[in-house]
Amino acid sequence: MTVSPHHRDLAERYGTPLYVYDLARVRAARRDLFGFLPEGVEVYYAFKANPHPDLVRALRTGDGPACKAEISSTGELAAALEAGYPGADILYTGPGKTPGELDEAVRHGVGLFSAESLTDLEHIGRAARAHGTTALCLLRVNSATASAASGVRMTGKPTQFGIDSETVPEAAAALTSVPGTSVEGLHLFSQSNARDEESLLAEFRHTLETAARLQDELGVRLRVLDIGGGFSAPYGRTGDRAAYPKLRGELAAALDLFFPGWRQGLPRVAVESGRYLVGDSGHLVTAVSNLKTGRGHTFAVLDAGINVFGGMSGLGRILPVSVEVPEDGDSRQVTLAGPLCTPGDVLGRNVAVPAGLAPGDLLAVPNTGAYGPTASLLMFLGRPSPVEVVTDGEDTVSVTRIERTRVPHGAEHTHG
Ligand SMILES: Cc1ncc(COP(=O)(O)O)c(C=O)c1O
Repeated sequence: MTVSPHHRDLAERYGTPLYVYDLARVRAARRDLFGFLPEGVEVYYAFKANPHPDLVRALRTGDGPACKAEISSTGELAAALEAGYPGADILYTGPGKTPGELDEAVRHGVGLFSAESLTDLEHIGRAARAHGTTALCLLRVNSATASAASGVRMTGKPTQFGIDSETVPEAAAALTSVPGTSVEGLHLFSQSNARDEESLLAEFRHTLETAARLQDELGVRLRVLDIGGGFSAPYGRTGDRAAYPKLRGELAAALDLFFPGWRQGLPRVAVESGRYLVGDSGHLVTAVSNLKTGRGHTFAVLDAGINVFGGMSGLGRILPVSVEVPEDGDSRQVTLAGPLCTPGDVLGRNVAVPAGLAPGDLLAVPNTGAYGPTASLLMFLGRPSPVEVVTDGEDTVSVTRIERTRVPHGAEHTHG
């Protein structure tokens, strides 16, 4: 059996391709992540990983510390508000905040904004003043360096993200006096999906050292320090979430060194995580439409391609997909192709599948709870978006599908 009986039943009922997310796994990931972190460190859930309202609600409600929300659009803002996140627990990030989005965010009482530049800060300030308020902001800084041990490539390069760290001394006066804003702290996000615990720790230490220096250069006592993330989880292939047994002690020690007031909440310390919290909650169940050979290669053509999973391949983030195969059965290697009319629609090459795979068979791609439908080429070639079933163990919580909506003729700016 390559697909669990429960997933097979759901696929029969709702068709394929089908996403199944299990809230029990979301709760377990939340519990694990808070358990690995020093007590008091806050976790912002990155809605971009999966903004499904039932998943984001499970990260906030119930026992244990609750996640806060890191969002970058009015769609994610709506999902956060629908799931009961108070504005004060929402951090608005992203390089392209429009006036309409900022207006909506301020109106809903978003508690923190990450400012990517002086001009971004001015835009945030303008929106805040229009509502007679002051926006609390973090300066996102693109550090000139990364830790030698982490091998991180997301920082120190020219990007649309953050203020170049080396320009902070000369820009400090301007950055801290923008009308309508109050600089509360710093936001440094240098890596996603860290290689291992050593790399994660090294990068956090480096970030803390950088942040301590920036605090001096800015002449502002930090109230909030967002040190980014990098918590890793397998993406579309078998495997387990990482464990971080040393993190709690070593991160606390580094914080004691660089920010001795952190235990009293000065600054409040936060991390961000997307894939770790929801990645292993998801399975993508897909049916084999056809099997064919081409120049000696066998292709299993599926009803799921980069239209429902793997849109992130453009960002070089997709690793070869694997499917669940029985441990005791014979297997063969195939290329898993999707249904789209582009040779780029490949989910994996040399993927082991059951030897007798035939059209109509179901396959399950594990660890697809993060960067699934909303990170894919959903509308490409006009196939319906996949049904998403949220379960809690064996119970079904909700069944939804993302759909195109009509905008009334003449309506303008209804999307923020
Ligand atoms: C600013 C920011 N926060 C959080 C995340 C989430 O990353 P991950 O899903 O790897 O935890 C990302 C991912 O790109 C990001 O850019």
